[in-house]
Amino acid sequence: MPKSPKAKADASADGMSEAEALEALTALADEIAAHDLRYHRDDAPTISDGDYDALKRRNTEIEERFPHLVRENSPSLRVGAARAEQFSAVEHGTPMLSLDNAFSDEDALEFDARVRRFLRLEEVVAYTAEPKIDGLSASLRYEDGRLVQGATRGDGRVGEDVTANLRTLDEIPKRLSGSGWPAVIEVRGEVYLGHEEFAALNAAAEAAGQRTYVNPRNAAAGSLRQIDSKITAGRRLRFFAYAWGLTSGPFAESQWAALQALKSWGFATTPQSERVEGPEGLLDAYRRMEAVRPKLGFDIDGVVYKVDRLDWQQRLGFVSRSPRWAVARKFPAEQARTILEAIDIQVGRTGAITPVARLSPVTVGGVVVVNATLHNADEIARKDVRIGDTVIVQRAGDVIPQVVGPVLEARPEGAEPFEFPTHCPCPLETPLARETTASGAETVVRRCTGEFACPFQRLQHLRHFVSRRAFDIEGLGEKQLAAFYERGWLKEPADIFRLALDQAKLEELLSIDGYGETSVRNLTAGIEARRTIPLDRFIYGLGVRHIGETTAVGMARGYGTAQAFLAAMDKIAERDPEAIEELDAFDQIGTAVIEAAAAYFAEDHNRRAVQALAEQLTIQDAEQPKTDTAVAGKTVVFTGALERMTRDEAKAQAEALGAKVSSSVSKKTDIVVAGPGAGSKLKTAAELGLQVLTEDEWLALVGAG
Ligand code: IVH
Repeated sequence: MPKSPKAKADASADGMSEAEALEALTALADEIAAHDLRYHRDDAPTISDGDYDALKRRNTEIEERFPHLVRENSPSLRVGAARAEQFSAVEHGTPMLSLDNAFSDEDALEFDARVRRFLRLEEVVAYTAEPKIDGLSASLRYEDGRLVQGATRGDGRVGEDVTANLRTLDEIPKRLSGSGWPAVIEVRGEVYLGHEEFAALNAAAEAAGQRTYVNPRNAAAGSLRQIDSKITAGRRLRFFAYAWGLTSGPFAESQWAALQALKSWGFATTPQSERVEGPEGLLDAYRRMEAVRPKLGFDIDGVVYKVDRLDWQQRLGFVSRSPRWAVARKFPAEQARTILEAIDIQVGRTGAITPVARLSPVTVGGVVVVNATLHNADEIARKDVRIGDTVIVQRAGDVIPQVVGPVLEARPEGAEPFEFPTHCPCPLETPLARETTASGAETVVRRCTGEFACPFQRLQHLRHFVSRRAFDIEGLGEKQLAAFYERGWLKEPADIFRLALDQAKLEELLSIDGYGETSVRNLTAGIEARRTIPLDRFIYGLGVRHIGETTAVGMARGYGTAQAFLAAMDKIAERDPEAIEELDAFDQIGTAVIEAAAAYFAEDHNRRAVQALAEQLTIQDAEQPKTDTAVAGKTVVFTGALERMTRDEAKAQAEALGAKVSSSVSKKTDIVVAGPGAGSKLKTAAELGLQVLTEDEWLALVGAG
């Protein structure tokens, strides 16, 4: 039985031997990673925050006693947000190769014939036929059964170190189970995203106003290469093992046996894989794979045939970068021709504008397609698709149908280039401007600026407004919100507070299923409780793009009062240079925020909605950070091990005293607090001539020594 988190946290690190410490750290890493997953991915933590923190503290305590045991993937290094550096390079023990392609039955037969010619065999050759997963390959290095490193394929020889991210995958064992694994082995396989997970990810991205991914493969690749592994953890990536690289010794005699071994060590292997014999077997396996493809729930783009016997694989060897013992039989692209009847403009829930092709119904890969995405205005112009054109439609990555392009020979006379609308189809008819990124570059996204006034966006905005970290109104969840919205009771946030005072509506509410006196009372109490709200929550609740919680806190602190904030926003909308300069100087504020705030407050309907809301509320002034301490306003970096407090404690203490804590050392850093084991950050600090303090000196400085 594992000890309870509390028991572990209470035991002392002092009396530990190194071996015990190593074992404890390994166990803690696994335990914390599992809790991270439950918390971030499943939204279902199984321990309290306090107990979780205790595990983290325990990990830190042991690491502080044994700094050389701090591993690259230690939970203590995973806390906080981004790891500043990009991924470091990993040289694969043996290169990660690619596969030759086969496109027809003839190609598959020729593969078998070539294998037999090369080996001078008369007998029937056995193969594995495995689904070719459409994801991205990864290599996992295990030493003594423990996952020590995980890397992307990269150029095949050198990949990127994404260990921390790969560790967040449920289907990647941190320790191998079973037996018979070589002391060192690079297990290889495919990281991928299922259709459901892909759809959920895109829906969430769309709701948050972030970019969506075009197919599960891109989404998987993007998710794996996140700097913050917490983001990866939330993406529900999956992994199938199907190959291996460097091993310290043999562990199987055939590919088939190797797959079974991988499975017995705790990996997921593709259940559709089979062992087949001879050329007929190859062709049959392909047909079966074609048949199961639509039911898999994840993308595959073909079948991989591999010679089963590993001694034969050895003899067959490689030609340039592909093995002679394997081939990828690709599915033909699923395309069809049809007529482009119309191009409609859709407004997403955050105002993003997407052109949608309306098509004469056509079957593509067994599915009837009537709509397809045209992505954005630039794509339409680039492909020059015109209404009335015969177009080629493709199901990309099996999920979103897309228009590949027009068949020019079939273009009807008089077909005109498509003119992209300049205004949103919503009643506000807002001009559709190209969106700019933080650095001021134009993007392909056009967006409606109607916000609460655009009927396509309203509900989504209201959802944000009542969400937990914004107004967090008890009794007004998604369901109630949608119901009230449908009745036309809620159009903008101020309506929520008006509702609580509207006796007629509250009485009508009693006639709705599930509403009794108590629930109505609870709802009004929940709303009334939020009539007084801290300034930062008010700002965050407005749902201005790029103004997240941290930014909202920065703005609230900067302006201090709602009055000052609202006055400043009016000026920002007019692009008053002084107001912009003032905002720019606040903590956490950059160009993207200024642009977004200016766009939002330039719209009359937004200003009106904000004003109406403010009139309903008592907005509390922001808490000001201390300014009368020795470290107020200074930027501090903690590096190396701390002996008298944990990192989190140190950070909280510094922030309470008005300092800003950063994770990387730069010219902007004022103080570096370095403990034992401090490395590159200390070096940078010395190079920059920064003030470096020991932990004791720091504690003396802040008066806690
Ligand atoms: S074997 C030496 N098996 O296809 C060959 N690859 O074009 C090692 N892939 O980079 C690869 N499913 O990303 C193999 N069952 C499978 C596969 C598979 C997908 C991908 C993999 C590889 C690419 C080769």
